[in-house]
Amino acid sequence: MTFRRFALSRRKTLGLFAGVAAAPLLPPLATAASQPRRLTPAPGRVQLVGRDYPATAVWAYDGQVPGPLLRYRQGDNLDLELINGLPQATTVHWHGLRLPNDMDGVPGITQAAVLPGERFRYRFPLKDAGTFWYHPHANSAEQVGRGLSGVLIVDEAEPPQVDREELWVLDDWRLDEEAQVVPGFRDSLHDAAHAGRIGNTVTLNGFLPATWPVHRGERVRLRLVNVANARTFGLRFEGHKPQIVALDGQPCVPHSPPSDLVTLPAGGRCDLILDLDRTPGSRFRLVDAHYQRFAYKLLDIVYGEGPPLRDGPLDTPISLAANPLPVADLRDAEDLQVVLGGGAMGRMMSARLGGERLGARQLAARGKVWALNGLAHGAHDDPPLFVLTRGRTYRLRLINETRFEHPMHLHGHHLQLLARDGRAVEPQTWHDTLLVAPGETVDTVFVAETPGRWMFHCHVLEHQQAGMMATVVVD
Ligand code: C2O
Ligand code: CU
Repeated sequence: MTFRRFALSRRKTLGLFAGVAAAPLLPPLATAASQPRRLTPAPGRVQLVGRDYPATAVWAYDGQVPGPLLRYRQGDNLDLELINGLPQATTVHWHGLRLPNDMDGVPGITQAAVLPGERFRYRFPLKDAGTFWYHPHANSAEQVGRGLSGVLIVDEAEPPQVDREELWVLDDWRLDEEAQVVPGFRDSLHDAAHAGRIGNTVTLNGFLPATWPVHRGERVRLRLVNVANARTFGLRFEGHKPQIVALDGQPCVPHSPPSDLVTLPAGGRCDLILDLDRTPGSRFRLVDAHYQRFAYKLLDIVYGEGPPLRDGPLDTPISLAANPLPVADLRDAEDLQVVLGGGAMGRMMSARLGGERLGARQLAARGKVWALNGLAHGAHDDPPLFVLTRGRTYRLRLINETRFEHPMHLHGHHLQLLARDGRAVEPQTWHDTLLVAPGETVDTVFVAETPGRWMFHCHVLEHQQAGMMATVVVD
């Protein structure tokens, strides 16, 4: 595993990266009743690291990395036809959305895999406003790792007043000297058994980040999305006080990030309100310090010399209206527990795989190094972790017995975070992708809302591939 910053970032890439407005926010899509929007994943080439290097061969939605921004209003219907231009089967999973199970995009479970040249139409109502994303759920480590992901924004009826909105899609790539994606997404049991495929090149909206031009007095809404296979980001806006207003698309009580670090696990999103209140002409670093020993500057926040946008700070409210999530009923709640086991330096001696109990060696020979409650995920007909009753409230405890952190993702539902290691967490935030630190115990609560077979897995995609996945059935 290497955290070395890619040498390319030192070369002349300034100027190419014209601020971070590279992915402009599009106006809401017209909701023409009958024609679905089309989305085509296919091989392509993008200029990921600048013109001094060859274009990078990627797999991309509609030729773009990140994929096209899909933008709707709360209550709209998404209507989209996937046309598979890849040399292998794919699907689209709508990460973080509460939707009917047969629209969830998991091949072999919620739909048949979409073969090369085939089509599939996704159609469902958008119940929640917020920042979401989409990606394949077939051969995920490779398909996402080669560039297949995009953002889906659902606008609130009444968004907070800001001067500017920015979308930052953070990704992490493992590139060779020719700026090509290093292959072997299935070969490295070392990656799988450690922190996953951490790359050597961080991109923001598909470019190497350099500077972010701002103006004194501005209020910006920043939508952050981590589409990396494995890397967690921990962003520190030096000299500034961002307020978190939503996590994983769900609004929360506005609050400062704990220890000044905005933590974004793989698959996670965060909406920030950032007041740019420093002196014209000044410059600040935005540092990624999640892996403390490997902290690096992601970009410079650069204030223009011009006159400030306004004299004092804005004092309009920044909180977002809650989404219509089901209300937990703690009096009638049932307790569930999931033990995360396995990985390098772990204590997992054996696990069940496809109905057999196998020792750690035998599991590794089949590419499995992780398990949830002693079950390594093998095939889609594995028994579910739990069978839940629709409408019922569940207290879910996650116990991480491994030496690695895991962003645990439950499809179609959001988990409300109650406590970490027995200490109550304030404010109580909702998560679809919840980071559980090594050795940590996390308590959550959720309502089993929608019938179907839902995936529950680690969003380090190499961990998912190596067994850290299961299904939860809601009856
Ligand atoms: Cu974003 Cu099951 O995945
Ligand atoms: Cu994991």
